[in-house]
Amino acid sequence: MLEQATIDGVQMTIDRLPVALTVADPSQPDCPLVAVNGRFQEMTGYAPADVIGRNCRFLQDGCDGSDNEAAREAIRTALSRARGVEVVLRNRTRDGEFFDNFLIMHPVALSYGNTPAIVGSQFRITGRTTDSDVAEQANQVRETLSRLNFERNRLRDERYRSLARSSVELVRTWSYRR
Ligand code: FNR
Repeated sequence: MLEQATIDGVQMTIDRLPVALTVADPSQPDCPLVAVNGRFQEMTGYAPADVIGRNCRFLQDGCDGSDNEAAREAIRTALSRARGVEVVLRNRTRDGEFFDNFLIMHPVALSYGNTPAIVGSQFRITGRTTDSDVAEQANQVRETLSRLNFERNRLRDERYRSLARSSVELVRTWSYRR
């Protein structure tokens, strides 16, 4: 299970980013969302409190007639192999509006020792969306993923430095007492 401190860290990071982002914990039953950002809320109408703890398939509610099965199968396969995947799914906003969602998902190790989280980015495809818009979105998500890796390394270095500082402090105290 992802630690709360890890979730808080990733929440701060995704809140600063300009694409819709969701983070799910695959070590919990049914892979619930643990963090979503403001862009996701703008796109879907769902606030974090509505969706944290739920599997993100609720966005497919009411889309029964749609052809989502192949995309869902691709997602299930990717999740079971801890791989990334890009699919288009028919989804609905909180207000019931249908939209086509270009979903990019990738496992990301947010902290050491924990199972990787799954980061998903949603992009609304409209009649005016071109291939280069889609490519641009995919690029932004790739940048996001490397940014998350960078943040993770920074946190690790910070933890390491503070551990080193306390160790030095401990040794100094100990040598004074002798
Ligand atoms: C998802 N899933 C998902 N599905 C969807 O319709 N719209 C979405 O925006 C998302 N976003 C998303 C983000 C993350 C991080 C994960 C892990 C998953 C996919 C959904 O949760 C589920 O995995 C798929 O529907 C396939 O599984 P089922 O429903 O066939 O069991």
